[in-house]
Amino acid sequence: MTASANFNITLIESSKLHAMSLEDLPFGRYFTDHMLEVDYEKGKWKKAEIKPYHALSFDPSLSALHYGQAIFEGVKAYKNQEGEPMIFRPYENLKRFNLSADRMEMPQVPEEIFIEGMKELVKIDEGWIPNKPDHSLYIRPFMFGTDEMIGVKPSDTYKFIIILSPTGPYYAAPMRIYVEEKYVRAVEGGVGFAKNAGNYGAAMHATAEAKRKGYDQVLWTDAYEHKYVQECGTMNIFFIIGNKAITPDLTSGTILEGVTRDSVIQLLKEKGIQVEERKLGIDEIVSACKSKSLLEVFGTGTAATISMIKELKYKDFVMNFDTEKLEIAKHIKTRMSAIKEGRTDDKYNWLVKV
Ligand SMILES: Cc1ncc(COP(=O)(O)O)c(C=O)c1O
Repeated sequence: MTASANFNITLIESSKLHAMSLEDLPFGRYFTDHMLEVDYEKGKWKKAEIKPYHALSFDPSLSALHYGQAIFEGVKAYKNQEGEPMIFRPYENLKRFNLSADRMEMPQVPEEIFIEGMKELVKIDEGWIPNKPDHSLYIRPFMFGTDEMIGVKPSDTYKFIIILSPTGPYYAAPMRIYVEEKYVRAVEGGVGFAKNAGNYGAAMHATAEAKRKGYDQVLWTDAYEHKYVQECGTMNIFFIIGNKAITPDLTSGTILEGVTRDSVIQLLKEKGIQVEERKLGIDEIVSACKSKSLLEVFGTGTAATISMIKELKYKDFVMNFDTEKLEIAKHIKTRMSAIKEGRTDDKYNWLVKV
C-alpha cells in the first residue's frame, strides 16, 4: 500500500485487462481493476482508499436496502488525440450528487473525494479507456446508508464508492417511445430532480410494460393531467418544432437536470437554433406532427449520449421519424463526440484532465 495525502492506494498484482477486448462492449457489464471506497462515520469522512475491485459484505439489516438512502452519478472519461484521459464535466455531477444527497438527508461528499478521487482512479485504470468511437470509460460514483439496524431514520454511517466500466453505446439503435399516461415518475415536491436509486426502481414496472408492448422506453408525463412531457427513460428529451428546439424546463423539480441536456442546449445555440425551455404539452406535439412542423425528437444522457427516436406513440396516434434525416440530432451528436474525444477545440472547457 502507498499513502498520499489524500488516498491510501493498494494496486492489484495482475490486471484483468489482458483478458479483455475493449471493442463492442455492452453497457455496464465489465469493471476495471480498481475502485475507490470511503466511509462516513461520526459526522466525517475517513481517508479514501483505492483498492482492487472487490465484492462488499454487509449485515442483512443494512439500512439502504430497506429504506432507500442510495444515490449515484454517471460520468464518462475519454482519451483525447494525444492518448490522455479526460473526464467530461465532472464538476456538474458533483453538484448534482450533493443536491441528491441533500434531498435524501445524506452527507455532502467533498470535491477532494469526488473529483480528486475520480481523477486518481481513472489515472490508475487509464488503460481501460476504450479508443473506439462511441466508446468510453463510464464512471459510477455512488453512496448509500450503511447503518446495520432496522428502523426508519437517516443512517448515521455511509459508504461512498467509485467504480469504472469500459463501455460501448447504451441505446445503439433508434428508439420507439411510449407516452406514459398511467404511471408517474415524479411529482412536484418529490424527488424527480434527484438521482436516487428509488426513482429507477419506481420506473421499472412502467418501462417493462412498455417493453412488453414493443417499445424501448416511456416518455413520462406530469402527475396531475398526464399532459406535459417530462423526460424519457434515463434521458432528457428535445423536440425540434419548426426552427426551434424545445425541451421541458426544470422549474417544477420533476426532471433530472442532465449534464448532456445543458451541453446540448449550448451546442444548439452555437448552431444558431433558438432553444425554448418551457412546459411542453403532448397536444402541442401532436398538432405539430399533424402540421408537419415536428421535425425531430431525440433523447440526451451520459449513458445514451444523443439517442435518435424513430417512433413516439400517444394513445392511438403514432408519430414516425426518418432517423436518417434527423439533421440537428446528428449534428449535435457528431459535434459532441468530437469535443469529448478531443478531435476539436474544447471551447467550453468541458474536459477535465486527470
Ligand atoms: C432520469 C434521467 N434523466 C436524465 C438523464 C440525463 O442526465 P445526464 O445528461 O447528466 O446523464 C439521466 C442520466 O443520467 C437520467 O437517469
